Amino acid sequence: MQRGRAILREEGPRGLWFLVLADLCYRRLLLLERDLEAAIPTLEPRLPVTFGLLAPDDLDTYLCFHDEDDRDQIEDRFARGDVCHVARHEGRIVCACWVSRGEHFIRFLHYRYALGPAEAYFWDSFTDPAVRGRGVAPALAVHMLDWARHEGVTRVTTAVSPENAANLRARAKSGFRVCGRIACVKLGPYVWHRHREGAT
Ligand SMILES: CC(C)(COP(=O)(O)OP(=O)(O)OC[C@H]1O[C@@H](n2cnc3c(N)ncnc32)[C@H](O)[C@@H]1OP(=O)(O)O)[C@@H](O)C(=O)NCCC(=O)NCCS
Repeated sequence: MQRGRAILREEGPRGLWFLVLADLCYRRLLLLERDLEAAIPTLEPRLPVTFGLLAPDDLDTYLCFHDEDDRDQIEDRFARGDVCHVARHEGRIVCACWVSRGEHFIRFLHYRYALGPAEAYFWDSFTDPAVRGRGVAPALAVHMLDWARHEGVTRVTTAVSPENAANLRARAKSGFRVCGRIACVKLGPYVWHRHREGAT
């Protein structure tokens, strides 16, 4: 009920309708891409931050910042080789985002998303509610795009709910554009996917 009210407030009736559908059987996400052969802009957040990688022994700090994630999940991510970039303000984590290479299981869609050798996938972007709207997530994304380019990546993708206006705005600032859609129908144990690129 609380979750429904929050969605209604943040995303409107359309968001609530797709939340109900998602719980019943149908889910979809927009796929966004960023070509790393294009120039990467400089973005100054409206809050002084420093960027870095989350170290596995810094898990407690991360879990205080992002209490929707749990310890086992985060340990699994590190075990798989996923990498987390963070932005810190006065030493405190205020924004984070994860990167996968090779393959990423999009839990929301029950979908195994295969990535090419020169591709990376950005996910679980989260900014401390107290500092949202100050351009921290886009600045962290730019830092991560530079990092990915040094790693030999030429294309980065990310998946965003069409109702998540804040994330769509944040991603657009670092040059992500919609390139497709992944949808899922789940009826009991049966799951069907449709992954389309080039048209939405
Ligand atoms: C999506 C998210 C990471 C963006 O982070 P951010 O650092 O606030 O990014 P920006 O500063 O660029 O703000 C993006 C948009 O959020 C909206 N916004 C502005 N102030 C806001 C506030 N105080 N609270 C919430 N959203 C706000 C605006 O639409 C803004 O776009 P605009 O600057 O063009 O007006 C952040 O809103 C968040 O953590 N949301 C919850 C988790 C989530 O949805 N993650 C993405 C899916 S995994």
